[in-house]
Amino acid sequence: MSVELADSISALRTRLAPLRREGKIIGLVPTMGALHAGHIELIRRARHESDCIVVSIFVNPIQFDRQDDFERYPRPVADDMQVCDQQGVDVVFAPSAGEMYPRAQRSFVEVEALTDHLCGKFRPGHFRGVATVVAKLFNIVQPDCAYFGEKDAQQLAVIRRMVADLNMPLTIVGVPTVREPDGLAVSSRNAHLNLEQRRSATVLYQALTAAREQIVRGEREAAVVKQQAQNVLAQQPEVRVEYFEVVDSDEIQPVERIERLVRIAGAVWVGTTRLIDNVLVDV
Ligand code: PAF
Repeated sequence: MSVELADSISALRTRLAPLRREGKIIGLVPTMGALHAGHIELIRRARHESDCIVVSIFVNPIQFDRQDDFERYPRPVADDMQVCDQQGVDVVFAPSAGEMYPRAQRSFVEVEALTDHLCGKFRPGHFRGVATVVAKLFNIVQPDCAYFGEKDAQQLAVIRRMVADLNMPLTIVGVPTVREPDGLAVSSRNAHLNLEQRRSATVLYQALTAAREQIVRGEREAAVVKQQAQNVLAQQPEVRVEYFEVVDSDEIQPVERIERLVRIAGAVWVGTTRLIDNVLVDV
């Protein structure tokens, strides 16, 4: 294996210091592991733009609102190392929880307003945990660019805003969602679905595309678009809708009239698995 593993902050800094002195471009792909096609797309994108790719693998305890979700989050470390090796990653930064949080964390990054709706409304503290760990990772790695998937559109908006508001010196790159042939967004959580649930799960993307088509055909009332999407979702009674919203793409606030760039986003439960997805629509 040519990929290197750094499990401490000091080892990572020692590895990156000479590269930084030489003016090399460092790209960071922050992940929680269980790497899949979506992460590979982030790494590919990073490879085009960076001299050195760092993938961080850290299942961040402070962003989980449910202990069971944290505990059952997959951690296939050896497979992840192999993926990184195959994809030409230079360094995997995989710290322990003790390395990242050596004592009680008393400082947090809170991005207001953008976290009031969608996942922020249903997962209290989630985005505070995400923004805080991502800020820590940016300080540890000091990358020139960092790569995030558009599947987590609210997370991407929150991180972009944090970087802009706090003048963090790096570029955030959003990478389009990777989908299975039937449209289901690739996610680590898909592994929890049984065959039947896997089939039903495609209804979320079907509802999103139905909503997008309605807007493209000229519908401007968000309530009408959402109702039609709910009808599509209702075709799979085992799928429970947590939210289905039309929001403006920067501030992530629900809109009534669709008059500019909007994001349609949904979260559903299939059994005990929570899935999210979204599409962007320009009118
Ligand atoms: O998207 C994720 O995997 C996580 O939220 C992130 C950005 C790695 C922070 O823990």
